[in-house]
Amino acid sequence: MMPRWIPAAVILIFAAAVPALLCASDAEAITRGKKALETRAFVPAPWPFAAYENVWKYWEPKRERAPGNYAEAFREHYGLHQAPFDNGKYPMGMRPGKLFVLDGITTDCMLCHGGSILGKSYVGLGNASLDIQGFFEDFNRAAGIGRKLPHTFSNVRGTSEAGAMAVFLHSFRNPDLSIRIDRHKWELRDDLCEDVPAWWLLKKKKTMYHTGGANARSVRSIMQFMLTPNNSLATFAKEEAAFKDIQAYILSLEAPKYPFPVDAKLAETGRKLFIKNCAKCHGTYGEDWTYPSKVIPLKEIGTDPTRFYGLPTKLGEFYNESWFAKEKPDGYKSMETAGYQAPPLDGVWATAPYFHNGSVPTLYQVLNSKTRPRIYTRSFQTSEADFDKKKVGWQVRILDETPKNGIAFDRRKIYDTTQPGRGNMGHTFGDDLNEEQRRAVIEYLKTL
Ligand code: HEC
Ligand code: HEC
Repeated sequence: MMPRWIPAAVILIFAAAVPALLCASDAEAITRGKKALETRAFVPAPWPFAAYENVWKYWEPKRERAPGNYAEAFREHYGLHQAPFDNGKYPMGMRPGKLFVLDGITTDCMLCHGGSILGKSYVGLGNASLDIQGFFEDFNRAAGIGRKLPHTFSNVRGTSEAGAMAVFLHSFRNPDLSIRIDRHKWELRDDLCEDVPAWWLLKKKKTMYHTGGANARSVRSIMQFMLTPNNSLATFAKEEAAFKDIQAYILSLEAPKYPFPVDAKLAETGRKLFIKNCAKCHGTYGEDWTYPSKVIPLKEIGTDPTRFYGLPTKLGEFYNESWFAKEKPDGYKSMETAGYQAPPLDGVWATAPYFHNGSVPTLYQVLNSKTRPRIYTRSFQTSEADFDKKKVGWQVRILDETPKNGIAFDRRKIYDTTQPGRGNMGHTFGDDLNEEQRRAVIEYLKTL
């Protein structure tokens, strides 16, 4: 008779091997996703290589010759960052690609989703420096296509009109993604002013985007960025596997740790205050973390309502009829929600400016609404000197009013919270704390 322990041992070994196998395939998907993001272009290349070399000719104010150390001057001019992986001569967010048979340069996800803090670049940190309006205008001109963009890409550096981009790109499609001759005449707004959420937060979320309007596990939803008219349904179907891998990689990302000393005792006081005042919306942290993935009704949160109301209902209806909503039998439908999602706060020290519209430059000002600056500018650089360690966020220079004149490049460096979509009101949950309590909560937030 076989000793009884053999089957038990076999079962044990087998049981141990199953999760190991699953992990190996997860790990492979993560590796493939990272590689796809770091090496592949998913949209055609609209510009010839020479556009990168020549684009400085369109910089304002005009200059006589290309700046020395061109790569660095270029990054600084547009708010791009050195890639933390090998990206040839280009900054993170740009890469070689193809337009039909022609080679040229194009952009990738990290144009917006590759940021820098304390001089260090991270894939998945929102790019809070990018001048996406100037970038596309200048490259179009350098490529001889003409400066005019089909809609506003951004009014302020570090933010984008991603909502209008989605409306515009979907408007050329039928639900089966075939191209329409007459595009849908949905309203193209220029006041939805969006800050880019950090990718490392996605793993905790059940719903995503600022209003929580999409299932956070939808792969097709994040393929919307590929919607330039040159990409056919066949291309979308072919690339879905790559985007599943990209999603696996995004879900594996971790927030960077606060690199300066933290007062542990003060942070512990802050943790208790956080549990009492903040955790019901933002969750709890540490090993046994919880996250409620809650959307807070507009009336209760009170932050700027423009983005919430700004996307046409027709777009949501169209999306739900289209290929995007059909990735599984019951679909991942776009949902109408009541307000804005309270995000997880992991790595929040690194993700200024705050709120869905990037209207508040520091954590201190999030927690003390009366001190939020009305009109301000900043360097849009990311070194230690540009970081406000005390208030935690960006150093800003306050202005009395928005200058009436001046070049567009400089005007986009000014955040004017009196403009539509850029309001800094609401979320007054920190106002009742006294200064000492507020300091303690900020100390705790540094540890997340
Ligand atoms: C033009 C800038 C831009 C580009 C390029 C871009 N994104 Fe985004 N992304 C955004 C903005 C802005 C949001 C927030 C949108 C919202 O909530 O309305 C966002 C949201 C997301 C989210 C949801 C995050 C969350 O927690 O809610 C994911 C995931 C994402 N993008 C993935 C991608 C991928 C993958 C690519 C490349 C294929 C990409 N994005 C390209 C700007 C961009
Ligand atoms: C009733 C729910 C609720 C409570 C209570 C609450 N928050 Fe929030 N919080 C939100 C929502 C919703 C947002 C997003 C608002 C927006 O983007 O318009 C937010 C945004 C934030 C942000 C900005 C995040 C980012 O990346 O832009 C920080 C920081 C923050 N909250 C900290 C706190 C702290 C600290 C407390 C406790 C003192 C707190 N919150 C209490 C709902 C809440």
